[in-house]
Amino acid sequence: MTNGLPEGFIVRDAMVRDIKGIIKIVNSKNNRASFGWVPRVVLEDAIKRQKCDGAQSQHRIKVVLRMQGKTEVVVAWTRSYHRRDGVTSLHELGVAEDCQSGGIGSYLVNETVDACRKRGMTILRLKTVVGLRSNGYYPRFGFEKVGLERGRKRELNVYELSL
Ligand SMILES: CC(C)(COP(=O)(O)OP(=O)(O)OC[C@H]1O[C@@H](n2cnc3c(N)ncnc32)[C@H](O)[C@@H]1OP(=O)(O)O)[C@@H](O)C(=O)NCCC(=O)NCCS
Repeated sequence: MTNGLPEGFIVRDAMVRDIKGIIKIVNSKNNRASFGWVPRVVLEDAIKRQKCDGAQSQHRIKVVLRMQGKTEVVVAWTRSYHRRDGVTSLHELGVAEDCQSGGIGSYLVNETVDACRKRGMTILRLKTVVGLRSNGYYPRFGFEKVGLERGRKRELNVYELSL
């Protein structure tokens, strides 16, 4: 483990060239139902703004990579947004199916929480589709269910972590 990231993986800010790998994770057979609509333009915008604004950026998009020779393979990603009212919205978290249950998702949740705390944010908020397995995932980090929302297509549970 390196700072909680399993051996053999690295984490960095996402780059435009990672988008294909991110979309592959989103659209994989067993992952697809967990994600809402993730348009390429939204990813590209977050990546460019994060690069442009550096540490001040409200946009946060990270990838975890595995090196295959000299080729970087995107195996996980997360995107969040630091609002001006102290709330950070965790929009997506995804791990490639062949890398799940190895601690990478936990690493990304924990490093997001750390980054929010460093920035002085007060709440980390996320939404999950009602009935899916991921609802059991977030409480282990201290998230509490605070509400239920009617999403565009499905009902969503709202979870918050006080920072
Ligand atoms: C949920 C998810 C982010 C967890 O990351 P991970 O690296 O697989 O999980 P970790 O190793 O940190 O933690 C392991 C736990 O995750 C849970 N988990 C594993 N695969 C999962 C999956 N496909 N969906 C939901 N939870 C899962 C299990 O409860 C597991 O606990 P166990 O080892 O006691 O069985 C990841 O599995 C994933 O991307 N799932 C599909 C997409 C998704 O649900 N994203 C979150 C909502 S946007």
